[in-house]
Amino acid sequence: MEGTATAAALGTVTVRAPAKVNLQLAVGARRADGYHPLASVFLAVDRHDLVTAAPGEGLTLSVAGEGAAGVPLDRDNLAARAATALAAQHGIRPDVHLHIDKRIPVAGGMAGGSADAAAALLACATLWETRSTPAELQLLAAELGSDVPFALLGGAALGLDRGDRLTPLPVTGPFHWALATADGPLPTPAVYAAHDRLRPRHHRTLGADPAVLAALRTGDPAALGAALGNDLQPAALHLRPALAATLRAGTAAGALGATVSGSGPTCAFLAADAAAATRLAAALTASGTCHRAWTATGPVPGASVLATPVR
Ligand code: C5P
Repeated sequence: MEGTATAAALGTVTVRAPAKVNLQLAVGARRADGYHPLASVFLAVDRHDLVTAAPGEGLTLSVAGEGAAGVPLDRDNLAARAATALAAQHGIRPDVHLHIDKRIPVAGGMAGGSADAAAALLACATLWETRSTPAELQLLAAELGSDVPFALLGGAALGLDRGDRLTPLPVTGPFHWALATADGPLPTPAVYAAHDRLRPRHHRTLGADPAVLAALRTGDPAALGAALGNDLQPAALHLRPALAATLRAGTAAGALGATVSGSGPTCAFLAADAAAATRLAAALTASGTCHRAWTATGPVPGASVLATPVR
C-alpha cells in the first residue's frame, strides 16, 4: 500500500533529539564484524538537533546550522537512511522532505548524526502515522548506528554490546558541563582503528563502573568527575595531540572531571553547578585551546515531537 495520500494530508512534524556525553566508555577487543564490545554510560544533554519532516515527492534533504557543510546530503545521511528504513518496514514510499537544523557539533563525539537519525525516525513515524511502538523504533535505531537507540531514549543509560543494548539508569540531576569543541572533525572509525593499533591485545571484562553509577544515582558531581573514564581518549589524543592542552586548561580552571566525549574531539568538563560551568566555559574560551566552549546540562529526555501534524 502506498502511503502518499496520508502523508500529503498532514502538515509538518518537528522532532528534537539530544546530544550525549559518555561518562564511561569501556572498549573491549575488536570483534570479527569490526565493531567493539562496549560498556558505555550515556548522559543526554540539552544541546539538540531539530529535524522537520514535511510531505514531499521522494526523499529530499536540506541541512542548516553550524557545520552543515560537513553533513552528507545523499543516501549516506543517517536521517535519510532512517526514513528509508522506516518506510521499507511499513511498505510505503519514503515521500518526505527532511530539514535538519544542526546545533550539535558535526563529527564531534556527541552523537549528532545519531540524534538526526533518531529524530527522523520519530518525525517520519508521526508524519506517516505508522503507529510504531517504542520497541519497534529502538530495533530500527540499532540497525542505523550504535548511538541511535540512546538518542531516542535519552536520560542516562548503560549501553552494552555495540553500545545499543540499553538499560536506563537512575539519575539525580542536573549535572552541569562545559563542552569544548575542537577545530575539525575526528571520524569515529579512525579513532577506533587508532585504539586497536595502540592497544592491539587489550582484553578486559566490560561492565558499568560502580563509582559512575553511584555518583549518577546520588547526584554527586565531585564523585562523578573523579569517576569519568574513556578508553578511546588515548587514541583521540594520539590523532589530535592538541586536545591534551584543552583537557589541561579545563582542569586548571577547576573542572571536577575532564574527558574526551566518545571518540572526540569534543571535550567535556564537569562543574559543581551552573555558575561554575559558565566560568569554566569562559576560561576554556579564553585559554585559546579550543574552537569554542559552551555550557550544557543533563539529563534531558530523548527524541520528542515539538509540533504535531495539522490536519
Ligand atoms: O555504529 P556506528 O555507525 O555509529 O559506528 C561508527 C563506527 O564506529 C563503526 O563503523 C566502527 O568503526 C566504530 N564502532 C566500533 N564499535 C562500536 C561502535 C562503533 O568499532 N561498538
